[in-house]
Amino acid sequence: MYNTDNIKDTRKIINEWKKQGLSVGFVPTMGYLHNGHKSLLDKARQENDRVVISIFVNPIQFGPNEDFEKYPRNMERDLNLCREAGCDLVFSPSVSEMYPSENLVYIDVNELGDGLCGVLRKNHFRGVCTVVAKLFNIVTPDRAYFGQKDAQQLTIIKRMVYDLSFDIEIVPCPIIRESDGLALSSRNTYLSADERRAALVLSKSLNYAKQLLASGERNADKIKKEMIDLINKEPLAKIDYVEVAYKESLKPVCDINAPVLVAMAVYIGKTRLIDNFFWEV
Ligand code: PAJ
Repeated sequence: MYNTDNIKDTRKIINEWKKQGLSVGFVPTMGYLHNGHKSLLDKARQENDRVVISIFVNPIQFGPNEDFEKYPRNMERDLNLCREAGCDLVFSPSVSEMYPSENLVYIDVNELGDGLCGVLRKNHFRGVCTVVAKLFNIVTPDRAYFGQKDAQQLTIIKRMVYDLSFDIEIVPCPIIRESDGLALSSRNTYLSADERRAALVLSKSLNYAKQLLASGERNADKIKKEMIDLINKEPLAKIDYVEVAYKESLKPVCDINAPVLVAMAVYIGKTRLIDNFFWEV
């Protein structure tokens, strides 16, 4: 397994593979890897001759009051997981390698990035798209793997690839959860024991929404209200948003008559967690 920290060597290794006609699968991450990331690597391993992972905590997708500095990092552990998952190349650049000077050009996301997580996290998806486009240009993969855990990110990246004609297949991967329902996240490490228990309110309220949909409820406001009431019963939880949105446009839904995304961001103590599910009519 190669581990590079610069763009030049990364390109050289991948170009050699391309010359041999080998296909490349790519998993972009911010590290502190868990079984959610591992599921993306496993899928990439099954579908490609070579698997590349990037580990880079991307400063331009964090707001000024967010957790860029304290975002969890453990390169040694991550490299072991990558080796076990059968990765061929780990690209782990420094901030100065990726951003030698301040960008004057970014990828502008428009309305898709304004709702849901974009309300609180201004410019977040501009930062995500800009770094993912850079990584795509460096790695030039045939396929790239993204988790449904970050549903808005997945929708926006798919649209970026379509709008900007990247010749890359975006492969969506299901959310991996702990046995009690909590979606795996690098940020779960911030939770105290009490908060870890309280964090179950996210998946519980989503399951409740699924039940309401299964029983025929189609009024989005009603579903949201039921979810909000359930979450508010948990004293450690503070809602950022609970939303029912159209799957493609991410615009809020009134009557559910097309595929929707039911999504939420909830603070558990100081930690902001997200979770969601897609629902087909
Ligand atoms: P990160 O949060 O490290 O996530 C990397 C990838 O792993 C994303 O596609 C994310 O959706 C997926 N993932 C995380 N938890 C998951 C889970 N429980 N189940 C399934 N997939 C999961 O997302 C980012 O990094 C960054 O924004 C990035 C795309 C790398 C750009 O900086």
